[in-house]
Order: sequence, then structure tokens, then C-alpha cells
Amino acid sequence: MELKIAVIGGDGIGPEVTAESVKVLDAVGRRYGHDFTWRTGVMGGCAIDKFGTPIPDKTMDTILGCDAILFGAVGGPKWDDPRAKTRPEDGILHIRKELGLFANVRPIKVYPELAHASPLREDQLQGVDMVILRELTGGLYFGRPKKRWENARGRRAVDTLSYTEKEIERVVRVGFEMARNRRKKLTSVDKANVLESGRLWREITIELHHEYRDVELDHVLVDNAAMQLITNPAQFDVIVTENTFGDILSDEASVLSGSMGMLPSASLTSPPPKKGVRRRRGGKPALYEPIHGSAPDISGHGVANPVASLLSSAIMLRWSFGLHEEADSIEKGVDAVMAEGFRTRDIASEGDKCIGTVQFGDMVASAVGG
Ligand code: IPM
Ligand code: MN
Repeated sequence: MELKIAVIGGDGIGPEVTAESVKVLDAVGRRYGHDFTWRTGVMGGCAIDKFGTPIPDKTMDTILGCDAILFGAVGGPKWDDPRAKTRPEDGILHIRKELGLFANVRPIKVYPELAHASPLREDQLQGVDMVILRELTGGLYFGRPKKRWENARGRRAVDTLSYTEKEIERVVRVGFEMARNRRKKLTSVDKANVLESGRLWREITIELHHEYRDVELDHVLVDNAAMQLITNPAQFDVIVTENTFGDILSDEASVLSGSMGMLPSASLTSPPPKKGVRRRRGGKPALYEPIHGSAPDISGHGVANPVASLLSSAIMLRWSFGLHEEADSIEKGVDAVMAEGFRTRDIASEGDKCIGTVQFGDMVASAVGG
């Protein structure tokens, strides 16, 4: 069966790490007999430079014709002028909204070999295994009004944090479903002591809990959650939260794993399918990407860590295509290369064998055995 994948490398290290995923997925295809076909598209700053828009129609058409999207990263200092009319980030925001990818799943795991690389003490990292479920198509990112203007009193700008009942319900439901398949604990993070939207969020979450009595539910205010993530991270199983809160908390949580270069993510329109259930094809494609950004400072040097992208492609195999063994083979390949002491620069310490992006990808591909 042909599996069509849109490859959108984007800016900075995005294309470098995504290329390693394509290489490893091709190895998976050879080993297990799958026919991955690749469709590339431009998006982000590179698309602004070439076409004057961060997301050309052609890229959108490509995406809509595919079964899944493998995305790299967007942005860079070249396009950072706060007065610019259009920004690279608008490209990814547009895709999320157009495809209705409201559920952003960000698993946070600690590799025991890297525990020493985290600023936290190793004993505080014991048992850390959580998922941050970030609402991705609403909240402060998308609420209207959203604009800036100027009058006699000076410049002014507004963003709006707004949610409908439906938007809250569908993402919190995904949270309950995911918790049910894990350690059965859901932490809903809001700012209900100050924000109306936070109070609605909490009210709806409490109502939904009646359908998920087997799951333990906690409510934590976002400021407190930021503190607890560092002081007692092992307590969390699934965290569900508003778009901006999730953006901030997931960067914070990434330090637990030693490097942002290790963490994958998936953006979905429905809960991850249970094992053995194949996602129905023909719907809108889900999107898989590292949680790290375009890292312009190291781009082009061949030193970027491809693990986050490789692990994102493993999740893609599992959730978009129901290919569990194949997904395991990528994760095991990454583990095997790490176990032999090979590391990219961001996670290497004394005694490790420091290798580049392409070498790391080559080694995972050969571990997969295609
Ligand atoms: C992320 C990124 C994006 C976001 C940017 C690139 C628009 O930081 O995926 O976390 O803010 O959502
Ligand atoms: Mn972010």
C-alpha cells in the first residue's frame, strides 16, 4: 500500500533533521515492505523569501493530498522584525487551524543515560513519564480581536483568550482518553482564579469527569504547575491545557529530558488510536514534528540532534498508519545508537562519541536494518 507523506522541512535545522527521518523511514519501508512516497513543500521563512507568503497554496494542496505530514521547524532572526507584515510562524499556525489539529501531544520522557545532562538532580527525575496535551487551534493564539492600532494616545495591541464549550470539551476528552490508557491521572491546568475562560475550562472538565470516573482528576493553576514541573515532575501523567500555557509548559518540561533535541510531538484531530486499531485513511492528515525550533545558531553545521524528528516519525507510523512494529524499530534503533555511547553535540558529555546529524541518522537506519 502506498503511504503518502508530506515533508515540510521549513527553516534552520528543520530540513536537516527531517532528511534523517526520511532516510530512516525509507529503511523501514525496505525492511517491512512499505511503499512510502514523499511530497515536499516549502513553508516558513524560506517560503516568504521565495513566494512572499509563509504558506503557498501549492504547499497546502500538497499537504491535503497526503496521509500524514512530517514537519521540521520554522523561523529565524532574518524574519524576526516585529513590524513585518507576515511571519514564518504564520505558516504552521495556518496549517494547524486549517486541518483542525486541535490536540497537540507532547510526551516527556527522561532517557536514563541523559539524566545527568538535566539541570535537575537525578533523583528528582526518577519516574518522569508524562504527556503534555496542548490545545492547539484556539485560546490566546487564535481568539479575536487580534490586532494592533494607533491613535492619539499611542500604539495599542490586543490578543484574546477565548474558548467555546465545544473546543474545551473535545481536547479535555482526548486528555481523559489518553490518561485512561496510561496511569489514569489527568491534571487540568488553567488560570481559573483570574480568567473567565479558565473558569469555563474548569467547569467543563469537572462535568466531563462524570464519564471518566476511573481517571483521577486534578486542577492546578498554571503558575503553580510551572513550579511543580520542576519541583515534583514525576507526579504528572497527562496534563491538558490551553494553547499558550501548553506552549510555555512544554518548553519548560523539555529541560527534564536533558535536551529539547530529544522530544517529538504529534498534532491530531482525534485521540490517538488504540493499539491494533488502524486510523481510517482519507481524513485530514495529522502532523508530526520535533518540539524544538529552527535553531538558526547551529543550522548548516551538521550538528543538530535528529532524535526528536526520528521519534516523531515513529509516532507517525504508529498513529497515522497503525504500524506498531515498524514504529518500535525506529525507537529501538535510537536506543541502540545511544546505548553504544553515540551522541550529537547537544547531549554529549566526556567519554561519549560525538557524531553529526547525518551519521546519527545513518546509524539508526542501519539499526532498523532496511
Ligand atoms: C511550538 C512553537 C510554535 C508555537 C511557533 C513556531 C509558532 O513554539 O510549536 O511550540 O508557538 O506554537
Ligand atoms: Mn513552542
